[in-house]
Amino acid sequence: MTDIELIKKAIEARNRAYAPYSHHMVGAALECMDGTVYLGCNIESATYSPTICAERTAIFKAVSEGRRDFRRIAIVGGMEHALSLGICSPCGVCRQVMREFVNPREFEIVLARVDADVIVPEKYTLEELLPMSFGPENLSV
Ligand code: THU
Repeated sequence: MTDIELIKKAIEARNRAYAPYSHHMVGAALECMDGTVYLGCNIESATYSPTICAERTAIFKAVSEGRRDFRRIAIVGGMEHALSLGICSPCGVCRQVMREFVNPREFEIVLARVDADVIVPEKYTLEELLPMSFGPENLSV
């Protein structure tokens, strides 16, 4: 699957975001090593703190289905009625959750500006977005 195809899946997931408080809608498409894709959207709560980001929705869906082999994640987000979407960079909590399951030097984070049919991707490794990270190896002897 191309980066653009994965971004289109994130756009599809974003349409299902439940964000009545922030009105900031986010979609994520998480690709496993065999090409399986798990979608996620942000889901907010009237009590605010239970809110979950699109990225973690996708990751937790995948992990709960037995998957931990992730290659890439595409993320798109922006205000509900925005005509175009700027870059939606993953929050620190989501970066740390990604760190739990992937090799930071290899896992790719595909962000995108979206304006009508024009999709402009930007790609980073997790290492670039979460340098000097703490991970599972830090807790092994
Ligand atoms: N949000 C995400 O889902 N992912 C991000 O990368 C940034 C923020 C959500 C959480 C909340 O529902 C809304 O966007 C505003 O922070």
